Amino acid sequence: MLKKIFSPIKVGTNSLQHRVVLCPLTRFRSDPASVPSALQAEYYKQRATDGGLLITEATLISPSAGGYPRAPGIFNKEQIEGWKKVTSAVHEKKGVIFTQLWHVGRVGSKFLNPNQKQVVSASEIPVSGKNPQGNDYEVPRALQVDEIKEIVNDYTQSAKNAIEAGFDGVELHGANGYLIDQFINSSSNKRTDMYGGSIENRARFALEIVDSVAKAVGVERTAIRFSPGNSYQDMGDDTVIETWSYITSQLQKRHPDLAYLHFMEADAFLKDKLVDTLEPYRALWKGPFITANGYSTAPDQAIELAEKTGDLVAFGRAFISNPDLVERLRQGHELAQFDNSTFYTNDAAGYTDYPFYNETKN
Ligand SMILES: Cc1cc2nc3c(=O)[nH]c(=O)nc-3n(C[C@H](O)[C@H](O)[C@H](O)COP(=O)(O)O)c2cc1C
Repeated sequence: MLKKIFSPIKVGTNSLQHRVVLCPLTRFRSDPASVPSALQAEYYKQRATDGGLLITEATLISPSAGGYPRAPGIFNKEQIEGWKKVTSAVHEKKGVIFTQLWHVGRVGSKFLNPNQKQVVSASEIPVSGKNPQGNDYEVPRALQVDEIKEIVNDYTQSAKNAIEAGFDGVELHGANGYLIDQFINSSSNKRTDMYGGSIENRARFALEIVDSVAKAVGVERTAIRFSPGNSYQDMGDDTVIETWSYITSQLQKRHPDLAYLHFMEADAFLKDKLVDTLEPYRALWKGPFITANGYSTAPDQAIELAEKTGDLVAFGRAFISNPDLVERLRQGHELAQFDNSTFYTNDAAGYTDYPFYNETKN
């Protein structure tokens, strides 16, 4: 019997042939001007399959969206041209590719912003602890309402740019403690205006972006990723299930034809056992549902989950080290181990040089 994970499903206007998805994975292989490189085209092409969905690494929506050197952007002509090489390489193999749209908010640094502009967030609350450079996180400035509207426009324009670059759709990065998540979580949003306080108000920014992007590029080309209950980058919410259930219900009501919703298991890296916590949201969303986080080290559980729920399952680290992950899962071949030390380096090593299974058998 064909396992559900290898069975077709419609995502937006795309007829997928299986449900194994490439997770968004930041890898810092763009050029210093955030233009996608030939190496990236090669990487995505290696992982493309007929009717398989790839989601790109998080991609900056504007020069002020923060981020990191050599993360890609999608706000100027050169970047759109760079991405065209990626999308056409994937389409040559009949793959489907969405890009993940990103604003980092308070996780950024003024040193990476034009004119060293202060980082922004929902409220003036920094991430606690030290950043990866060993310094205190910078204190953000709370966005004013007119600036919030400008950022909604940046998401919308970058979504249009993505379609111009040949993407099949966009995934809004509403997870992992970045700007959208900073508005949703009660720990980072202490606003007293229409964007803070109640669940409805904290969800408003995310929902406005979805409304605007869906209107601009089509609801079937729009998707969003969430990480309810994840503590990464100091996220915390007082009412996790209520908060993301409200958002999911609103999306079901306003946009039942979104390409998909993508949910991450909370703090999968911190637990020794992968536990499914996403059932409340799965029960509310009637369209395609992607589950992720932790399945790279538990591929059998991914196959079981898809069997039980019909979900698509996204793989991160296992797809880094297995360009032919889909085929390996289908054939039951062993998976190559990933090497954390090259996740964030800048060249081909640990990026495009992981062999396909048949190459390891020669
Ligand atoms: C190197 C690396 C980069 C990541 N970059 C992103 C990203 O850009 N956007 C995002 O939503 N998640 C990102 N994540 C999280 C992954 O999408 C995924 O949820 C995580 O790897 C867990 O799944 P896995 O167990 O299959 O690896 C990243 C994870 C890793 C390891």
